[in-house]
Amino acid sequence: MTYKQEIINFYNARTNYDNDVTLNRAIALFDYVTPSPGQSVLDVATGTGNIAITSAQKVGPSGYVIGIDIATELLKIAQQKIQAQNLSNVELIEVDAQAYQPEPDKFDVIYCSYAIVLFPNILKILENWYRCLKFGGFIAFTCSSENSYLALLIVEACAKNGIALPNLHEPLGTPERIQHLLTQAKFDQIEIHPRQMGTYLSLEKAQGKWNGQFWLHIDNPLRELTPPKICQIKASYDEEIAALETEQGVWHEELIYYVVARKT
Ligand SMILES: C[S@@+](CC[C@H](N)C(=O)[O-])C[C@H]1O[C@@H](n2cnc3c(N)ncnc32)[C@H](O)[C@@H]1O
Repeated sequence: MTYKQEIINFYNARTNYDNDVTLNRAIALFDYVTPSPGQSVLDVATGTGNIAITSAQKVGPSGYVIGIDIATELLKIAQQKIQAQNLSNVELIEVDAQAYQPEPDKFDVIYCSYAIVLFPNILKILENWYRCLKFGGFIAFTCSSENSYLALLIVEACAKNGIALPNLHEPLGTPERIQHLLTQAKFDQIEIHPRQMGTYLSLEKAQGKWNGQFWLHIDNPLRELTPPKICQIKASYDEEIAALETEQGVWHEELIYYVVARKT
């Protein structure tokens, strides 16, 4: 199965995606950039449309919003929400964000909430966003520290068993790397706002966070491994987690960077 199909299947199965947490963490992007009435907005990887719908309310009837995604089932939910609210200024397009080529200088704001790390070539996607933003326009996206979601522990458990596991959160996993990639793509006025959303988990919950195999990455070497090898890696992961347990439980970092940058 291709990486793209893996993503489509994973998100199509998440028809229960919407809840207070997924809504609030997405619309927190409006704390940093809010579109004005009459403006044009692109919501990349819109999913169930939370950012697109809120943007449509903010830009009003004289503005417009385009939401794009590849997960048909999530787009259906977004469409139902748009119809329920009678919004006529928002359009959903089922297209791969990496292939979407709108005309240059089209949008005032481009949002991408909880999705940019899923794109294999982040510099290329940033360059495309730069191209289709108007001068003076903003991009606003989220990404996570490289150690969020216990990712570095998983990488370490694999390394202990001779497997080099690439980490989705690595390319945008520190403020320095975010700054560097955005500068390479010609953006300026870069702001990086960290928000810690981590919690302590029970040992059982922390161990249950990873099954030893599931990993979203284009170059995921775990796809090719035999079940005994996966069991070995999972055992290393469980051991490492157990070693981190404190009286409060196991710290599960979710350090989210809310990033804003401008085309000037
Ligand atoms: C974690 S969800 C975030 C959804 C939404 N932005 C939000 O914050 O509620 C990630 C989304 O990225 C979409 N996605 C992943 N790769 C994509 C691609 N190449 N093109 C378009 N959408 C993509 C998935 O289908 C999914 O809807």
